[in-house]
Amino acid sequence: MIRALLRVALGAVLLRPAAAAAGCPLRCECSEAALTVKCVSKDLQGVPTGIPGYTRNLFITGNQIGRVGPESFRGLENVTTLALSNNRITEIQSQTFSSLRSLRSLDLSSNQLVLVHPEAFSVPSRTLRELNLSRSLYNHSSVSDLATSLRWSTLAGLQGLDLSGNGLVYLPDRIFSHLSSLRRLQLANNSLVAIHKGTFSGLDLLEELDLTVNSFKTLTAGALQELDGLPRARLQMSLNPYTCACGIEPLVSWLNASRARVADSERLVCVFPAGLRNTSLLGVADLPLGCHQAEEGADLALQTSYVFLGLVLGFVGLMFLFVLYLNRKGIKKRVYDMRDACREVWEGYHYRYEIDSDPRLSQVSTTADM
Ligand SMILES: *[C@@H]1O[C@H](CO)[C@@H](O)[C@H](O)[C@H]1NC(C)=O
Ligand SMILES: *[C@@H]1O[C@H](CO)[C@@H](O)[C@H](O)[C@H]1NC(C)=O
Ligand SMILES: *[C@@H]1O[C@H](CO)[C@@H](O)[C@H](O)[C@H]1NC(C)=O
Ligand SMILES: *[C@@H]1O[C@H](CO)[C@@H](O)[C@H](O)[C@H]1NC(C)=O
Ligand SMILES: *[C@@H]1O[C@H](CO)[C@@H](O)[C@H](O)[C@H]1NC(C)=O
Ligand SMILES: *[C@@H]1O[C@H](CO)[C@@H](O)[C@H](O)[C@H]1NC(C)=O
Repeated sequence: MIRALLRVALGAVLLRPAAAAAGCPLRCECSEAALTVKCVSKDLQGVPTGIPGYTRNLFITGNQIGRVGPESFRGLENVTTLALSNNRITEIQSQTFSSLRSLRSLDLSSNQLVLVHPEAFSVPSRTLRELNLSRSLYNHSSVSDLATSLRWSTLAGLQGLDLSGNGLVYLPDRIFSHLSSLRRLQLANNSLVAIHKGTFSGLDLLEELDLTVNSFKTLTAGALQELDGLPRARLQMSLNPYTCACGIEPLVSWLNASRARVADSERLVCVFPAGLRNTSLLGVADLPLGCHQAEEGADLALQTSYVFLGLVLGFVGLMFLFVLYLNRKGIKKRVYDMRDACREVWEGYHYRYEIDSDPRLSQVSTTADM
């Protein structure tokens, strides 16, 4: 009897650590059946300790966690989905997630990242499939850090990357070059103005590219070539401030030829100039954009200048004739004078010739000379 009691008491003592291990961190809700732990909007200053090992889905969102590092997620080998959105995280250290051996989906959206260390997103055996960095950068300045960590972290298995809403002004060269499995890339709601050669290199398997709500006024032939380097990708490009002037022409003819790939081709409209606002880009080919007008204008200017030159020459000619007419008497006199002078010269010459050719006269003259 006493033995039995002792065994129960001992069992309780022995069981307590096990119960604690299977317990739940303060201010979190744990469901062993759903393999889920939630610590949502609880003003937590750091990642709580004591998260049970069975956890597959871990939601630590809406708190005040400033920084995460390698010590934050030790021993959570079964976590496949980790949501850390809305936590005011400013720094992610290298190897922060490297103990999460099963991690497939990482949501870091709505944070304020200033420091993203190289290898910040490294996860062993390349299990990570989805990375959400929507509205996660404090400002555009963090983009070069981000580019480095996208290259240095082992993300060869990544299939979805959300970089929307980060105020990105440009994309560093080859930022995605190590993401060779990427299928979906969200770049919506940034401030991109151009796509450079090499921006999308390495994305051979890309199936979706969202470029809506950026600052593209047009896309150059080079940018369109870069998009053509993603042959499988369905593109979304509406809600940009397209400017329907000369430079839009390559985009318009490319769009017409690429309708099948551009999911929202019908919704690409001119935003500037005001007179063409809301005109479909697909209809712009039929409009006078000003480019040809400029050429025609130049032709016209040239023609006008020829006509003007002709008129001036004609006028000068007329003036010349008029001056001649006014001086007709003086000219007549001068012509007569000239004629008389000529005649005198001629006659003088003629006379001398006759003298020279008459032998008698020449003899006379020679004897006379003697
Ligand atoms: C992870 O899950 C497996 C199988 O469900 C289990 O055997 C293992 O103990 C779990 N890991 C931890 C740290 O609890
Ligand atoms: C990323 O997170 C944002 C905000 O939390 C969400 O709206 C968006 O759908 C997520 N992106 C993906 C690809 O799931
Ligand atoms: C981004 O924020 C950092 C830190 O506050 C600041 O030094 C930098 O000038 C900001 N960059 C931009 C482009 O606003
Ligand atoms: C776009 O991003 C800004 C922050 O960069 C955010 O305030 C805004 O709500 C976002 N808009 C959409 C439509 O997602
Ligand atoms: C648009 O493409 C069609 C063929 O797909 C072609 O017949 C038409 O001329 C093109 N229009 C313009 C303006 O390039
Ligand atoms: C633009 O056109 C669409 C339909 O073509 C219409 O629904 C929308 O109200 C127009 N927007 C403006 C600002 O005119």
